[in-house]
Amino acid sequence: MIQTKNLHKYYDQLHVLKGVDLHIKKGEIVSIVGASGAGKTTLLQILGTLDKPSQDNGLELRINNEDILSMNDKTLSKFRNLNLGFIFQFHQLLPEFTALENVCIPAFIANRPKQETEIEAKKLLDYLGLSHRINHKPNELSGGEQQRVAVARALINKPAIIFADEPSGNLDTASAENLHQLFFKLRDELGQTFVIVTHNEDLANMADRKLIMVDGQISN
Ligand SMILES: Nc1ncnc2c1ncn2[C@@H]1O[C@H](COP(=O)(O)OP(=O)(O)OP(=O)(O)O)[C@@H](O)[C@H]1O
Ligand SMILES: [Mg+2]
Repeated sequence: MIQTKNLHKYYDQLHVLKGVDLHIKKGEIVSIVGASGAGKTTLLQILGTLDKPSQDNGLELRINNEDILSMNDKTLSKFRNLNLGFIFQFHQLLPEFTALENVCIPAFIANRPKQETEIEAKKLLDYLGLSHRINHKPNELSGGEQQRVAVARALINKPAIIFADEPSGNLDTASAENLHQLFFKLRDELGQTFVIVTHNEDLANMADRKLIMVDGQISN
């Protein structure tokens, strides 16, 4: 599902990713752990096609069997909208829209019908314990509630791959456990693939595979 070879990233002189080779299978839940500054977010952004790797000999980046590096921006945006979902710690909800509208937006971009989308969005929000807050805007929601809206937004198009960076970072223990269980439920029901950067040991160890990043490389 995701394949990389010799992935490097430089920010000017700073060599952040130092040759990452990865093979993640469909339906796999992979966690990435490692010290602050090791390059985890950088790797996730590149796997999620939000950033580009530095050119290097033998560089490969294939997602869902597509050669990401050969796509132009327009093709890539469409590919991203249809195949990839993102859950980040700084969730960037759109402030002028309600929780429900925020969740629906990726589906509207993909031209899905309004009614069906809203039913689905409500189901997701309900599962995440937010049915009483769906008509509120982000600034009327707590940090953890906003985080859960962002999770629902990431899932609305049933993307084949979900990238999560500290998905439960803002959540209390019970909400975090709920969210982690949702990941496994989705994988079992829909065969979705998850790549999760986390400092949460329970979540990291629940994954099918735990990758440890050390100084820009996968160490195991
Ligand atoms: N846009 C950027 N420009 C320059 N340097 C950057 C940029 N983004 C990240 N870095 C640097 O690259 C290194 C890796 O950053 P990254 O965000 O990938 O770390 P991380 O493993 O996610 O850490 P954390 O656990 O703290 O989130 C750090 O030294 C960081 O300062
Ligand atoms: Mg990070």
